[in-house]
Amino acid sequence: MKCNQGVRTSAARDVASWKLVLALICPVFLAGVSVAVAQPTDLKTFAKARGIDIGVAVSFPSTGRAQFDSTLTRNFTGMVAENDHKWGNISSAPGTYSWTNADRIVDFAQQQGMNLRFHNFIWHQQSSYIANGHSNGVAQPTDPNKYTRDQAFTHMRNHIGAVFDHYRSKNQLSVFSEWDVVNEATARDSGNDDTAHLYAGMRRSTGNALNLDSGLSRWTGYTQGETHDFDYIDSAFAIAHRNDSTARLVYNDYDAESRGKKSDAVYNLVSKLKSRNIPVNVVGMQCHWYIGPSNSGSSGAWDPQQVRENMARIGALGLDISITELDIRYQNPSDSVKRAQQSAAYETILSICLAEPHCKRFYVWGIRDASSWVISRFPGYGSPLLFEGSGTTYTPKSAYYGLISVLQSGTAIKSAPGVRNRAFGLSFQNTEPVRDLMGRRMSSLPDRPIFAAQKGASLKTSPNASR
Ligand code: XIL
Repeated sequence: MKCNQGVRTSAARDVASWKLVLALICPVFLAGVSVAVAQPTDLKTFAKARGIDIGVAVSFPSTGRAQFDSTLTRNFTGMVAENDHKWGNISSAPGTYSWTNADRIVDFAQQQGMNLRFHNFIWHQQSSYIANGHSNGVAQPTDPNKYTRDQAFTHMRNHIGAVFDHYRSKNQLSVFSEWDVVNEATARDSGNDDTAHLYAGMRRSTGNALNLDSGLSRWTGYTQGETHDFDYIDSAFAIAHRNDSTARLVYNDYDAESRGKKSDAVYNLVSKLKSRNIPVNVVGMQCHWYIGPSNSGSSGAWDPQQVRENMARIGALGLDISITELDIRYQNPSDSVKRAQQSAAYETILSICLAEPHCKRFYVWGIRDASSWVISRFPGYGSPLLFEGSGTTYTPKSAYYGLISVLQSGTAIKSAPGVRNRAFGLSFQNTEPVRDLMGRRMSSLPDRPIFAAQKGASLKTSPNASR
């Protein structure tokens, strides 16, 4: 009997006994040594049976595409561009767009019938001219007064409009299952410098050393977020919705999975958006986690019970939850104990997601350990993903089999991720001011949408441009 056949035995339906079976059949499994055999029935088959969308972040390699593609399509029902859809990867200057890599992802997902998450529109990083400023986590000296509030909103409307227009023109909007509209808008340090709690834990334009470093947001600065209740976030969702009223829209963040200041900030933010009837459908939980000791100053602590509670309160707002960027790193070197702990952690979060009715998607941030962002982002740490190997070899790890065992160990089938075409009270008529639920005029939006007319056009010079 081959090692991989153990997965399909009935005893394998129970996580513990399944591991015992595999260990008996294939002793090297517990020793943590790679087993270079073809994987058993693929992860995707088990995910489909439970109705959960299991996806992965994709950066197409320049060589070895056949093995990469086959690992991707055999195991995952969904995908997301690791970098290719970010503002800075699409547009280097206002009105200048390069779609080649972005389209390659969309075409692939469409051809393979895979779900595709769009990542992302509004972020303080990797956004070229509008909010660039980070190299290895350190802010670069971008002029904080480069754009006026009006100019920043014009860029926002134009960019979001350009992306929707592009994929509408290619008849591909239906390929996108959901869109990360705003990414990481809460403060990296949970607003610890904001002792008077004036800013609700939001990422600010200035602040303490952390905020002035990789934690600041040019979006907050340009739109004067601190004095306008961070309404750039409202506007981004409203603009996305106005471009495609059927699109499912996501607020995505990290370190906000368990209970704590930062998850409270995210919860309060999405509660506020909902109360204003801003079109948001989903909270994305990135889940960049670790097991074992943390590196100093690192993020990624999590607690299963707190994640359950946090998901429940978000679900109670009527929002779905997507696990969007899961990876679970640990300190080098790898060993069998760490592998087993990592597998248990992957199994735990999948079990939590399966048990929470609003948790519909489970996306891992990369396919193979060697290509993970963790290696450069968290020096001394690694091994965060489901596959290992090099060259054309993609070897499933203990965590991969652990996920299969969890999918097999229950029978409940999740309801499908929410349908498109959700109704919202905001009707974006071209001739009327946009108002929120409270009747408040959304001042950051123009009375009439202008992205269609101005898309690709150069900016008008504002009288405040040099302020
Ligand atoms: C990371 C990518 O994985 C890297 O390749 C890139 O150099 C930096 O960004 N949160 C996010 C993702 O929302 O976009 C980040 O992706 C990881 C953290």
